Amino acid sequence: MTRVIGVLSGKGGVGKTTVTANMGASLAWDYGNNVVAIDANTTSSNLGLNLGAYRFPVTLNDVLKGKADVTDAIYAHPSGLKIIPSSTFNKDIDADPKKMKRVIDYLGEYVDYVLLDCPPTLSDETTSMIKAIDEAIVVTNPEWAALLEAKRTISFLKKKKKKVAGVIINKAEVEPEEVAKIKEALNAPILGVIPFDDAVTRSVDKKVPFIHVFGRTRPSRAFKRVMEEVTGQRFPNRGIIERIIGWFD
Ligand SMILES: Nc1ncnc2c1ncn2[C@@H]1O[C@H](COP(=O)(O)OP(=O)(O)OP(=O)(O)O)[C@@H](O)[C@H]1O
Ligand SMILES: [Mg+2]
Repeated sequence: MTRVIGVLSGKGGVGKTTVTANMGASLAWDYGNNVVAIDANTTSSNLGLNLGAYRFPVTLNDVLKGKADVTDAIYAHPSGLKIIPSSTFNKDIDADPKKMKRVIDYLGEYVDYVLLDCPPTLSDETTSMIKAIDEAIVVTNPEWAALLEAKRTISFLKKKKKKVAGVIINKAEVEPEEVAKIKEALNAPILGVIPFDDAVTRSVDKKVPFIHVFGRTRPSRAFKRVMEEVTGQRFPNRGIIERIIGWFD
């Protein structure tokens, strides 16, 4: 059964693209799944950039405009993750996100996971993307503004009968009592808390997901627990060579 997971937030800049890139690469590389990550932000895309890919002759925008087949818009990342990027050009911004369901249905025949890096806010584009998903992961920061937007997004998801797999609290040090309060306020499971750490920004500079390039740092250890929550499986142990390399992270 293919899992179609939307990564949403409400507030912008909280870490959706970071989560999508790391989760996608980890599901593919560590867990050995067939995974497609879609940059579902057709007007302000950056998933490809986070993964070190800049030039795409065919993008999701072309597919949603009916100008190309979805198979022509799939690109390989070294982790095994497949990416469907969005266009970075203004001329492409009139793509019709309502066609997303068809794209997902096609991919569902072949892959284990489809991750959608969704736009912030509950715009028309976001709500079309929500229609195409089965479940959602909501990323937030512990600040009020982000939590309010997360709550609003979760309420919308529930109204649309979409499963909320859980919430990731990102860029934060949060005490367990605070986590419990956030869980109660959002009325959703908490998948994990990822600390603010410059390993994350440095990994973006290197264009490699932090969970792989800085695998033993605090955000990576926290993200591995998130992966266990999402998959229901222990994070696969690495071989001795990779562990030795990891000591130098
Ligand atoms: N745990 C973290 N520690 C430090 N920096 C982080 C962390 N998570 C994300 N960032 C940084 O925060 C910035 C925003 O992250 P990201 O692009 O993933 O957010 P987003 O929710 O996708 O934003 P948008 O709403 O614009 O799509 C990036 O520069 C990213 O490297
Ligand atoms: Mg983003």
